[in-house]
Amino acid sequence: MKKITKAVFPVGGMGTRFLPATKSIPKELLPIIDKPLIQYAVEEAVEAGITTLIFITSATKHAISDHFDPMPDLRAHFINQGKHQLAEKLDTLPLEIKRVFIPQGQPLGLGHAVLQAESLIEEDEMFAVILADDFIEAPNNPLSCLIQHAQQGQKATISVEQVAADRISSYGVIGTASWQGDLAQVSEIIEKPSAEDAPSDYGVIGRYVLPQALFQRLRETHMDRNQEIQLTDALKQIMTEQGLQAVKLSGQRFDCGSQDGFVLANLHVAMKSPELAEKIRQSLG
Ligand code: UTP
Repeated sequence: MKKITKAVFPVGGMGTRFLPATKSIPKELLPIIDKPLIQYAVEEAVEAGITTLIFITSATKHAISDHFDPMPDLRAHFINQGKHQLAEKLDTLPLEIKRVFIPQGQPLGLGHAVLQAESLIEEDEMFAVILADDFIEAPNNPLSCLIQHAQQGQKATISVEQVAADRISSYGVIGTASWQGDLAQVSEIIEKPSAEDAPSDYGVIGRYVLPQALFQRLRETHMDRNQEIQLTDALKQIMTEQGLQAVKLSGQRFDCGSQDGFVLANLHVAMKSPELAEKIRQSLG
């Protein structure tokens, strides 16, 4: 199997839950304190050995490309002033990491966004997909863990987490025969089931390692009643044809696509800074 070196970042969604902020600021640039969500996701990918980043964007998201630009003049200015720490903060992505921006055209769902990367993935090549709005704090790099399992099992591998019953209907949900440690073979996958119909409480979260064959299945996938192409539907085909495995996330995930998840992620990170934590405690009384 070829080494996994490419990651797709679908950033073409509308971010309606954060309007009006997302009128001109991409949801993925909303910061956890001082670092945008997309930068956390990109750092995770680069640490996991990814060398090509493929952003699937929409018309309002040029700022994501700007965020990863080097800004040499400002950098030189800070260095001349001896402000090396500020200069370092501008180094958002090593120059040797390739970045590609592809417009999604229309927000026709996550499956449609991933499909736009087709021309960049070679036959028999596996690739990663990262949803930056799933902010994860984990002892081990979550994508590295998925890549390791995908290479060992030679098959598509997705990340899952136990989800509360009142939220399960917002997730893709898997069914499995049994778990071996943190790994299971997926026997069923359903997009947004009701709590009664859900085959388990394991919801699919925003880290995937997928085979090139997925694109053909995405092209064959019909739009759902919301006029979206669901990644889950194509994954179901891959599961039947090649098998699909799931890895339990070890770590804490915050759904920063939702307002409560975003606020909690900010609080969580803030409470790890002694200075901020003290100020928060004081202000809460
Ligand atoms: P979400 O449904 O959570 O994102 O999609 P959204 O549509 O931006 O947010 P709301 O619901 O309107 O608030 C999950 C991920 O898939 C991407 C999003 O950018 C997000 O990372 N996505 C979704 C696309 O890239 N294109 C799409 O057409 C839809």
